[in-house]
Amino acid sequence: MDFKLQSTSLLLPEQGSVTWKSPSNIALVKYWGKKPVQIPANPSISFTLDTSATTTKLTYSKREHPNGNYNFELLFEGKPREDFKPKIAKFFERIEAYVPFIKAYDFVIETSNSFPHSSGIASSASGMSALALCLMSIEKKITPQITQEYFTKKASFLARLGSGSASRSIEGGLVTWGHHEMLPGSSNDFASKYPFEVHSNFINYQDTILLVDKGEKKVSSTVGHNLMHNHPFSEARFAQANNNLFKLKEILSSGDLTSFMSLVESEALSLHAMMMTSMPYFILMKPATMEIINKIWDFREKTGLPVCFTLDAGANVHVLYPETDKVKIYEFIKNELVAYCQKGHYICDQVGNGATVLAEQ
Ligand code: PMV
Repeated sequence: MDFKLQSTSLLLPEQGSVTWKSPSNIALVKYWGKKPVQIPANPSISFTLDTSATTTKLTYSKREHPNGNYNFELLFEGKPREDFKPKIAKFFERIEAYVPFIKAYDFVIETSNSFPHSSGIASSASGMSALALCLMSIEKKITPQITQEYFTKKASFLARLGSGSASRSIEGGLVTWGHHEMLPGSSNDFASKYPFEVHSNFINYQDTILLVDKGEKKVSSTVGHNLMHNHPFSEARFAQANNNLFKLKEILSSGDLTSFMSLVESEALSLHAMMMTSMPYFILMKPATMEIINKIWDFREKTGLPVCFTLDAGANVHVLYPETDKVKIYEFIKNELVAYCQKGHYICDQVGNGATVLAEQ
């Protein structure tokens, strides 16, 4: 699909504003390793989350004297944040060829997260997807004939250029990103909704996010992805991820929770194993991460209840379980796991329906 705006003589709206709320997501099969520009080394699949989200209002007014540069103000939770601007400027540079109108406007970007910024929850997926959607709303005003399908795909395409995992935050439920032979229409350029049947066990799947370490990550995911070049195990890892997607299709259709849990936990530990075996090597898990993992394994063995964990590129633990076992598993989390969280903080989340537009003028 060609995502460049075609016409050269477009009528641009003078001014307006648009607000999108876009969720975070948690990968089941992880993306780790990429090629320029933001092309994943392997396909991935995630649950879109519900309550962990970024809300972004983009106000735009046509510049009287465009000077070939971008011009934007950035307010995070109501306050100007100069330190966030380079990331947005880089994003604009990457997407300019596809949304050339961005140089024609003065922008004010007002953004806030439903979770604390210093929670260690990556806000790049929700933040970049919310901004990409705001820009697509402007594009839709310029070219109203674009289809909903094009809007969604291009929003994911733009979001990907901000942060790879952001491509998976546009639509709800299970979302895949990256080419895989089993997935018709799958692409490295944008994410798509998982196209096959999903067992009711996975509807409203719960994700309780235990905030073990709220500090800034010692190693950014950009650096981590790059360490997959010349990594001794990279080819085996990419093959494993591809293979896990085949296995997951079977699991998602049969509802086999035992296989689901072992695949998801193996993916999380494989991701962290890649970090530990990079050169230079690094460890993002903390002692509390390990304590929680061991408690989950003990509880699962004792009770037979289907609770498992996954990890992002950080120390926080995502505790995953089906809605039907919510009461007992939530009791266990409160009684035995929350003690390991920094200041006892955690977030109750579940699978959500994707991004929504909140206002448009
Ligand atoms: O989107 P990025 O570049 O921050 O990479 C995120 C990668 C993981 O969160 C570790 C895995 C994934 O697939 O989301």
